[in-house]
Amino acid sequence: MSSLQQVNPRVRGIRVSPQSTLQSLAAHITHQITQGVQKPFKEVIDVSSGDLHKAGMKPISFVRQVLAVCLYPELLQDKNLPQDVRLRAQRLLEACDGGSVGSYTASSGLLYVQQSIAEFVTRRDAGVPSYPQNIFIPAGSQRALMIVVKLLVSGEGENQTGVLTPTPCPYTLPMLLDEAGVTLAPYHLREDRGWAVDLEELQLALKTARGCCHPRAIYISNPGNPTGHVQDRESIEEVIRFAATEGLFLLVDEVYQDSVYGQGREFVSYKKVLSEMGQEYSETVELASFHSLSNAIMRECGLRAGYMELVNMDPVVMLFADTMLCTDISTPVTGQLALELMVNPPKPGDPSYDTYKQEILFSQVTLAQNAQRAWEFLNCLPGMSCQKAMGGIHLYPQLLIPPGMIEQAKILGVEADVLYCQRLLEEEGVFVGAGCQHGLATGNYHLRLCILAPPGTLEEVLARLSSFHLRLLDRFPHHDRGVKNGQLHPNK
Ligand SMILES: Cc1ncc(COP(=O)(O)O)c(C=O)c1O
Repeated sequence: MSSLQQVNPRVRGIRVSPQSTLQSLAAHITHQITQGVQKPFKEVIDVSSGDLHKAGMKPISFVRQVLAVCLYPELLQDKNLPQDVRLRAQRLLEACDGGSVGSYTASSGLLYVQQSIAEFVTRRDAGVPSYPQNIFIPAGSQRALMIVVKLLVSGEGENQTGVLTPTPCPYTLPMLLDEAGVTLAPYHLREDRGWAVDLEELQLALKTARGCCHPRAIYISNPGNPTGHVQDRESIEEVIRFAATEGLFLLVDEVYQDSVYGQGREFVSYKKVLSEMGQEYSETVELASFHSLSNAIMRECGLRAGYMELVNMDPVVMLFADTMLCTDISTPVTGQLALELMVNPPKPGDPSYDTYKQEILFSQVTLAQNAQRAWEFLNCLPGMSCQKAMGGIHLYPQLLIPPGMIEQAKILGVEADVLYCQRLLEEEGVFVGAGCQHGLATGNYHLRLCILAPPGTLEEVLARLSSFHLRLLDRFPHHDRGVKNGQLHPNK
């Protein structure tokens, strides 16, 4: 590919995302450091996305041990490995064609893994049945989402499929919807209510969207990325009733379901709530629920596997989902096997159980403590205010950017929060995501901060962020450090 002119016009039309720009800058700075260029920091710390192994969190031993045996079956004889590891690897290898992870699988996934997932979902939802034929296993939940969205695409202009999308939302979502060829119809989450989903906002967004597109689906992230909000049962019921009344397909991203730590909050799946709302809803509302190896407790995002469960979808349409997966030929097999370990971990009494339990507990405690620590710290910085998270792995603080920097950003043709992140990266080597709310002029700025990292790393991030932030305020001495939109602390 020699010039931009030769790039597919459709691809050329896609706006380069601020995350990609910042990512390139982070890679450039890291390269400079390896070349011996002097910086005020030793390395770049990336807390912009949910890549937790990159951030320093350790893999779960059981997963890596079983996969090691699957990849190198001679280890089945190695008595240094726990017996349950070897037994599980043997069972998984038996489920693979030719007894090898090097074989293709059915395009919707290994039946053995689909069955394990269906059993897990049934257990999780206290007996609400789940069926393997409704489970699809693509290379990541994003791929799964793309498949469903593509099934919904139709029309052009005012008739083009629209998807109601939260503001803020996961940073990859606008690009995914754009690539799928659907219109993004934004609905606002209520920051003043801890980023809750609000029925009036949904109704307003739907009304606004009609006339611009044909809204056919609503995307929900619960627990929320990047907000950390966890919906309660009433809120979920409200969304389901709204979807039913308006004939919307529910796209429910539940990838942080095992990362809930807010006091008195627990994860309740949309599918479970739907099943308890009576036949009028339980047999009609179409739902796709997504879960992922990347975001569940093992955080194995590089292995690329996730699953979706389709509920109330016409079996003929489901066949199309399968057909679309055929173009991938097969999802990475190691990822599928790791999914099986995710939904079917060691049980009490198994040789690997104690280590597994300890590792999981460490991750959960670190997450809850980091969330509290970062929340307190950020709220003490002048010009920053942060809602308390109840789940997920992000915080989304609001940022008062000095008018001088906003002016600079205008001159440079970038969003002010992107410029803030760029300067933070250059001066302190901390890569935090810009809050950009898919180009909407909301008039306020935010940062996306992944908080699950070893506590020492989080402290380093907070210290560097704080020194950059305070320097910035000193550079713009006339900056009003007070209240903004009534949401920042009045005593700042
Ligand atoms: C809400 C949400 N969904 C999905 C994903 C990624 O999923 P996958 O790696 O399974 O494609 C992420 C990654 O951070 C996420 O935050």
